[in-house]
Amino acid sequence: MQCLRTRLFQIILMATLATLPSSSRAQDSNNIHYDQATHVFRLDAAGMTYAFGVNNVDALQPIYWGKTLAATDPLPAVHTMPEAASFDSPADTTPNEYAGWGGGLYPEPALKVTFPDGNRDLVLHYVSHAIAGDELKIKLKDIERNLFVELHYTIDPATGIVGRWAVIENKTSTPVMIESAAAATWSLPRGNDYSLRYLSGRWAGEWNLQKQPIRPGETILQSKRGSTGHQNNPWFAIERGEHPDEESGDVWFGALAWSGSWRISVEQDQLQQIRVTGGFNPFDFGYKLEAGKELTTPVFYGGYSGDGIGAASRLLHRFELTKILPQAPAPKVRPVIYNSWEATGFDVDEPGQEALAEKAASIGVERFIMDDGWFGQRKDDHAGLGDWYVNPQKFPHGLKPLIDKVHALGMDFGLWVEPEMVNPNSDLYRKHPDWVLNFTGRPRTEARNQLVLNLARQDVRDYIFHFLDDLLSHNDIAFLKWDYNRNWSEPGWPAVAPDEQKEVYVQYTRNLYSILSELRAKYPKLEIESCSGGGGRVDLGILRLTDEVWPSDNTDPFDRLRIQDGFTYAYTPGVMMAWVTDSPGWLNNRTTSVTYRFLSSMQGSLGVGANLKNWKPEDFATAKQLIEAYKGVRETVQHGSLYRLVSPRDGSEASVTESVSLDRKQGVLFTFLHSSQMGYPFPRVYLRGLDPKMQYRVTPIAGELTKDMPAAASGAYWMSHGVDVQLRGDFQAAAFRFDAAP
Ligand code: DGJ
Repeated sequence: MQCLRTRLFQIILMATLATLPSSSRAQDSNNIHYDQATHVFRLDAAGMTYAFGVNNVDALQPIYWGKTLAATDPLPAVHTMPEAASFDSPADTTPNEYAGWGGGLYPEPALKVTFPDGNRDLVLHYVSHAIAGDELKIKLKDIERNLFVELHYTIDPATGIVGRWAVIENKTSTPVMIESAAAATWSLPRGNDYSLRYLSGRWAGEWNLQKQPIRPGETILQSKRGSTGHQNNPWFAIERGEHPDEESGDVWFGALAWSGSWRISVEQDQLQQIRVTGGFNPFDFGYKLEAGKELTTPVFYGGYSGDGIGAASRLLHRFELTKILPQAPAPKVRPVIYNSWEATGFDVDEPGQEALAEKAASIGVERFIMDDGWFGQRKDDHAGLGDWYVNPQKFPHGLKPLIDKVHALGMDFGLWVEPEMVNPNSDLYRKHPDWVLNFTGRPRTEARNQLVLNLARQDVRDYIFHFLDDLLSHNDIAFLKWDYNRNWSEPGWPAVAPDEQKEVYVQYTRNLYSILSELRAKYPKLEIESCSGGGGRVDLGILRLTDEVWPSDNTDPFDRLRIQDGFTYAYTPGVMMAWVTDSPGWLNNRTTSVTYRFLSSMQGSLGVGANLKNWKPEDFATAKQLIEAYKGVRETVQHGSLYRLVSPRDGSEASVTESVSLDRKQGVLFTFLHSSQMGYPFPRVYLRGLDPKMQYRVTPIAGELTKDMPAAASGAYWMSHGVDVQLRGDFQAAAFRFDAAP
């Protein structure tokens, strides 16, 4: 009945609109169009079309996502799938933009709720929409109850990346328990020749690119850990066809902007339809939505490229640099940093750090960062977290003398913090044992001798904000390395009612974001790194509030090639911190040259983390020269277009990347040889992305081309004839810049 009434209302509304002059009917923006006759919405930008419509039962049904269609191409009104069998009802088999769990739905629902009377049936129908600029909002409502969902769609004109999220509004008079809430479901064209790429890992072994065929059934990518996690990253890409590669083939990709527990499910149903649903992880989820209140989901971004996964990554990189990062649309280049962790561990003190700072400045470092160990009673990882006062034995006059010294040396100063954690051996825990995540009367599992503060609590949020505010207002600190060194256990919140305790999964992350944004607003020059024992908290949510990330604690320069390669499938090298550390490295005991280590780190944002007290004069000379060279190409490396020319994965003997500046006047080539075999020369490298007609002069950053290579040639030459690099031996590297000749 209600459904008929809604339909009647729509017909009257459409008839009224039809009598208006066409200019008042137009609800379109440049990139979003609505066809009133067919009830079809269409988003177009950057070579991509995304279309869906209101179908015959008033549900939102996907129509198309892929390469741009002509503006005149028909996108007819949509209808539910016919009932193929009593086991394959239309509710089950008809794709849906945002399906409530109800009415016989078996694929992953976007939203699942329980009403206080026990009703768990939710069927969402179109009510209205509005288009403003590059944003479309669509209001859905349950067929019977006043539970509304507002779907948001944004489109980025430069990349065609669509942002989707939902606001769930309880306009009933009683609370509703939300058991799962996704940001969006993405539907791909029907097919059985898709493969899924995703990123897996562990501590010190992040960013492994996985590939598997999509078969009937469901694959779950997720974190149940309270934070993003090392094990899966909230990114996916789906390729179509037998032989997609870096530069050819259809690719659909997406990334969730959420730093708490998350889930992305990839399903192929019984009719070979692909659905990707992502948002809050439904595991242990429960959000009691009071009457009159709303819940906003994270944003799930999705994009399409017809030019392979290399182009898909470049779209994401551009989007992150221009739309996500706090300094978007034009982030500053990352400074060359020094970090004390691998040199001094917890043994930081004023003279030791000042001595390191002097050496760091002498090679051209621009930011000196003191890592763990400076606060409370922190001698090792057993004590101190939570007590954020400067340790008086290590720094008898506070941080000021060190900061002044760093400034006098021409660098700015950064500091490590781990605000969300507490050691049981701390004044804070002794005073507030109830501030940690816990279940009353149950053990509190420690990891690295620490517990997780329950940041969902307002008093914990205030404590963390105030200690950071105090630190920043009393010290000239340009940068915080914000660390987070364990996952959740016993995620209880005994201070609130039992049916509200699971809100911790939402409120914790929101409070984290609110602290970061309040600090940024109060200290506009402050820059922040997201670190979680390496790459455990990297996602588009945290990247809205942090300027860079630490991809891995693994600083072995050879392992890093693979780690960094995997990282760039989802994230721009502009945020990818990479340190040059000591050799042999602590993890693999591998010996490599200073040059090899520098070139590996120069693929991202360069840092030095070695114990400079042990360096020889020739190491300083090499470092100084390479840091200088890096400064001449970092704009291109950090903000240009990345081409992954030879992959370091799958036992590859070599790996090669190239970055090209946006104006195509500079290319930067990094080549690495793992191990020469059978006397073969280094594989010829074919550059990409240069202007074929422009002349480019080649200059070595380190290493040599073969003798027969010209000093200058056209972009066409470097791309079609290729480049021969003189590399032999084990763990060898060379790098070159190609500058447009005036
Ligand atoms: C883990 C980080 O990833 C390291 O870089 C370092 O900051 C340590 N924590 C310090 O405890």
